[in-house]
Amino acid sequence: MAKMRLDKLLAHSGIGTRKEVKKLIKKGVITVNGQIAKDAGMIVDTARDEVFMGNDKIDYKEVVYIMMNKPKGVITSTYDPSERTVIDLLPPEMTLLNPFPVGRLDKDTEGLLLITNDGELAHKLLSPKKGVVKKYYAQTQGIVDENDVKAFKEGITLEDGYKTLPARLEILRAGSTSEVYIYLSEGKYHQIKRMFKALGKQVIYLKRIAMGCLILDENLKPGEWRELTKEEVESLQN
Ligand code: URA
Repeated sequence: MAKMRLDKLLAHSGIGTRKEVKKLIKKGVITVNGQIAKDAGMIVDTARDEVFMGNDKIDYKEVVYIMMNKPKGVITSTYDPSERTVIDLLPPEMTLLNPFPVGRLDKDTEGLLLITNDGELAHKLLSPKKGVVKKYYAQTQGIVDENDVKAFKEGITLEDGYKTLPARLEILRAGSTSEVYIYLSEGKYHQIKRMFKALGKQVIYLKRIAMGCLILDENLKPGEWRELTKEEVESLQN
C-alpha cells in the first residue's frame, strides 16, 4: 500500500502511538518533502514522499500481521542465544520486517499468538486499560467445580499476594482430569497456572484460542502460521 495517512505511517514505523505522533506533528518536528507537516491526516505516498523527524529520515516499514499456532517447546521471544523462538519458525521474508510477538505464552503453552511489527496495535492489545479478553482451553489435574468458578469470578490471591481481576471459568468436563475454558482480561506471568495452583490444582495442558475478536484458525497445526485477513486486522484495530 503506497498511500496512507501521515500519523499511520509514523506509528507503523515505530515512532510512537498514534496519539504520540500527533503530538510530534503539532510540535512541528515532522517534515514531508522539506515542508513542516501540520495535518496528521495528510496523505503521503510511501514510495515517493520523504518524511523526516528532525534530521532523521523515516523509513516506512511494510506492516505484517501473522497468526501463529505456537507449538510447545519454543519461547515467545524475538531472540534467544540457546532456545528456539517463535520468530525462528518464520521465513526470512517475514523476519526481515522485524515482527515481534504480542504478549507472551509460556514455553509449554500452545495456541494463538499474534506476531506483528505494528507497534501501535500491539500497544493497544496489551494495554491493561483496554482489558482485551483472552480465551484459553486447559486441562487440569484435580476435579474443577463450582467453587473454582466462583473463585475465578471473585479474583484469586496468588502466592505473591497479587489478587487477580474477575475472570470467567467454564467447566467443559469435570473429572480426575478436568477440561475448562478460561477467559482472562489481564496477563500476569504464568497467570493461569498460578491461579489453579492457588486452588490446589495443576494445569497439565494449556492452549490459547482467542485474543479479543481474533480466533485461532483451526486449520493451523502447532508451528504453522498464516497472515491475518484484512477483515481480521480491521476487527482488531476497531
Ligand atoms: N497463563 C499461563 O499460566 N501461561 C500462559 O502461557 C498463558 C497464561
